[in-house]
Amino acid sequence: MLPFKKWFGSKLNSEELISRLDTDNIPNHVAVIMDGNGRWAQKRGLPRVAGHHSGMKNVKKITMAADAIGINILTMYAFSTENWKRPKEEVEYLMKLPLEFFPKEIDELIANNVQIRMTGWQEGLPDYTLKAIQDAIDQTKHNSGLILNFALNYGSRKEMLSGVQQLARDIADGIVTADAVDDAVFSRYLLTHPLPDPDLLIRTSGELRISNFMLWQLAYSELWFTELCWPEFTEQHFYEAVQEYQRRARRYGGL
Ligand code: FPP
Repeated sequence: MLPFKKWFGSKLNSEELISRLDTDNIPNHVAVIMDGNGRWAQKRGLPRVAGHHSGMKNVKKITMAADAIGINILTMYAFSTENWKRPKEEVEYLMKLPLEFFPKEIDELIANNVQIRMTGWQEGLPDYTLKAIQDAIDQTKHNSGLILNFALNYGSRKEMLSGVQQLARDIADGIVTADAVDDAVFSRYLLTHPLPDPDLLIRTSGELRISNFMLWQLAYSELWFTELCWPEFTEQHFYEAVQEYQRRARRYGGL
């Protein structure tokens, strides 16, 4: 049997799928590795960047789907610290997506009370990318609804190493004692602070790995994989993932 569930196509529409969800067990934080844009495009004889463009449009669709069922935080892995190794043209294209996405979508995001956030290093990002994101963060900072968090220029090992370095400095300066370092203290040194850990991780495109994404934060998350590429992943698939999450018994190492 395949280690992931093949999607055979639900006959149910979004409303029907939503009505089957347990409203008392909606994941608080869902994180998504939006993989397979390039393959989706290549299968259709399109340039890889066409896949990224289609993937960008899907961010909005899945944000609305998450909001509709009361998910509080949606983290989207948009660009990793390793993605700089890609061809220059592809990196440039990805860096320009926020310039298209936010002006086009911000009004509807605001109307839906969405808060934009970013997790990742600002250093290294082009000024225009940062400005597009910072404007969206500023425009939505008084909203109180779903947090749409873009993991951009993010890598988990680098995040943990910088956290450990800062922690070591704070211990040396007497701000923290080594014995006081527990999960909660360490979490404060991570870029995701103060967001809670994801309850559910979704990865598209059939790859069964975490790819340096939130290695600490995903310790007890439920993982859900699909063979579908990100641009073809719909609201229905999203609700299927949440339904599967609700069937899981989360034991956190206990019985
Ligand atoms: C991985 O798929 C995807 C990315 C590196 C980029 C994901 C970004 C978006 C979907 C857009 C984000 C939107 C904003 C507004 C920032 P891949 O192309 O590496 O897949 P492949 O394995 O098929 O090549």
